[in-house]
Amino acid sequence: MTTATTAKTGTLPPIAPGLPFFGNSLSFMRSPLGFLRTTRERHGDVVRVAIGPLHVTLLSHPDLVEDVLVTRNRLWQKDRFLQSNLRPVLGDGLLSSEGDFWRRQRRLAQPAFHRDRIAAYGDIMVAHASRLAGRWRDGETRDVDKDMMRLTLEIVAETLFGAHVGDHAEAVGHALEGVRGVVTDPLELFIPVLKRFPTPARRRFDRAVAKLDTIMYGVIDQRRKSGEGETNDLLSMLLHARDEDGSRMSDKQLRDECMTLFLAGHETTALNLSWTWHLLSQQPHVAAKLWREIDDALADRPATMADLPNLRYASHVIAESLRLYPPAWSIGREAREDVEIGGYRVPRGGQVWFCPWAIQRDSRWFDDPESFRPERWEGDLAKTLHRYAYFPFGGGPRFCIGQAFAQMEAVLLLVTLARAFRVEVLRKPKVVPEASITLRPKHGLHVRLHARRA
Ligand code: HEM
Repeated sequence: MTTATTAKTGTLPPIAPGLPFFGNSLSFMRSPLGFLRTTRERHGDVVRVAIGPLHVTLLSHPDLVEDVLVTRNRLWQKDRFLQSNLRPVLGDGLLSSEGDFWRRQRRLAQPAFHRDRIAAYGDIMVAHASRLAGRWRDGETRDVDKDMMRLTLEIVAETLFGAHVGDHAEAVGHALEGVRGVVTDPLELFIPVLKRFPTPARRRFDRAVAKLDTIMYGVIDQRRKSGEGETNDLLSMLLHARDEDGSRMSDKQLRDECMTLFLAGHETTALNLSWTWHLLSQQPHVAAKLWREIDDALADRPATMADLPNLRYASHVIAESLRLYPPAWSIGREAREDVEIGGYRVPRGGQVWFCPWAIQRDSRWFDDPESFRPERWEGDLAKTLHRYAYFPFGGGPRFCIGQAFAQMEAVLLLVTLARAFRVEVLRKPKVVPEASITLRPKHGLHVRLHARRA
C-alpha cells in the first residue's frame, strides 16, 4: 500500500452508493458498525460515504491509519464531529485542542501520567473495587455497566482530584448523562443548525455543562485556597506544573483539562470492563483459566501493583476485549490542506474516519477475528502485527495519555472483582453494542452474580 504527498489535484475517493438526499445516513444510523464493515468489504480500503451534511472518507488499511496518525499527522486536525459536539463541553482540553497550545498542555500534563506516578494509584483502584465487591451479593441481579461507570468515575475523582471530590462523583455522573444525550442526538447530525436553538435537549445540555463547571471550578478553587503543597494527585501536578517559560495553567485551562480527564478517563475503562464481563460470560473456559491465574497469583489477598507481572493472562483478556469492543470505536481527522492518501485526494476540510472496530476484526490481520481468544496475545503477535492493525488507544503524538493508567486499572479491577464473583450475563435484555460517542452496551449489562468464596 502506497501513501503519497500532499496534492492539489487527483481523483476523489470512490463514493459508496446511497439514497438521494440522505446518502448513506440511514444505513449508518441503523447500524453504524455493520455499515462501516460492509462498506469496506464491498468498496475497499478507501471509500467516501455521505453522512448527514458531511462526506467522510473511510480508511480501512493500517498503512493509511499510520500515515494520518503518525507519518503526516501535521496535515490533519481533529474531525468536525469532535469539534462541534465535544468542544463545547471539553473546551481546550487535551482531547480537543490543537497546534502549539495542545503541545504545551501535553508537555505540562505528561509527567502526571508517568508510570512511576500512576503506580501510586494501584492501591486506590483496588480499594474501590474491593468496596464494590463487598456490596455485591451472591445471587443478586444488577446492571454491572452502571457499577463499572460509577467505580471508574470514583477512581478518576480520587486519583485526579484527591479524596475531597469523591462526594461529587454522583453529580458528575448524572451531568455527564445529560451531556451525552444531546451530543449523540441523530436529529442534530442531520440538521446541525438545531444546535443553536434552545430545544429541551439543548437546555438539559446547558444545565449539565453548567453543573459540571460549578463542580470543576469549585474543586480548583478549594485546592488553590487550601495552600496545600504538591500532593500526589493529578490535579496537584497540573496546578504546580510549569512550562519552560515558568508559566502555569489558568483556571480555565485547568477546568478544561480536568473536564477532559474526567470524561475521557472513566467511561472508556468502564466500558472495557463491561465488555470483558460480557465476553467472559460467553466463554466459561476463558473465565476458568483467568480464575486459575488469579488464585495462583493472589491466593486470598487483594492484588497490588507488584502482582501485575503474574497476571499476564488477565492483561491478555483485557487486550482481547479491547480488540473486539474498542470503546473508542472510531477515530476521525479533518484535512488542514489538500492531501493525497491511498492514491486519492482528500480536499482541505475533508473528513476521514478510521475505525478500530472494523480494522481489529479484519481477517487480513487476525485469524478467526470474531473469536474471543486471549491466547492469541501469548506468542509474539504483538511484535509481528502491523502496528496500526490494533490501535484501541490511537497512535502518533495524539495517542491516549491515559493508556498506562487504563491498562493497569482494568487489570486490577478485573482481578479484584473476578476473584470474588462469577458474572453471568442474563439473556434479557439482549446485549447490543451501540456506537455512540463510545461503544456501549445499549441496554446496560444485566447480570446475575455468583459468589466464588464465602
Ligand atoms: C480503555 C480505556 C481507554 C481507551 C480505549 C482510550 C482511548 C483513547 C483514544 C483512541 C485516544 C485518541 C483519540 C484521537 O486520536 O483522536 C485517546 C486520547 C486521550 N485519552 Fe484515552 N482512552 C482510555 C483511557 C483513558 C484514561 C484512563 C484517561 C485519563 C485518565 C484518558 C485520557 C485521554 C486524553 C486526555 C486523550 C487526549 C490525548 C491528546 O490528544 O493529547 N484516556 N484515548
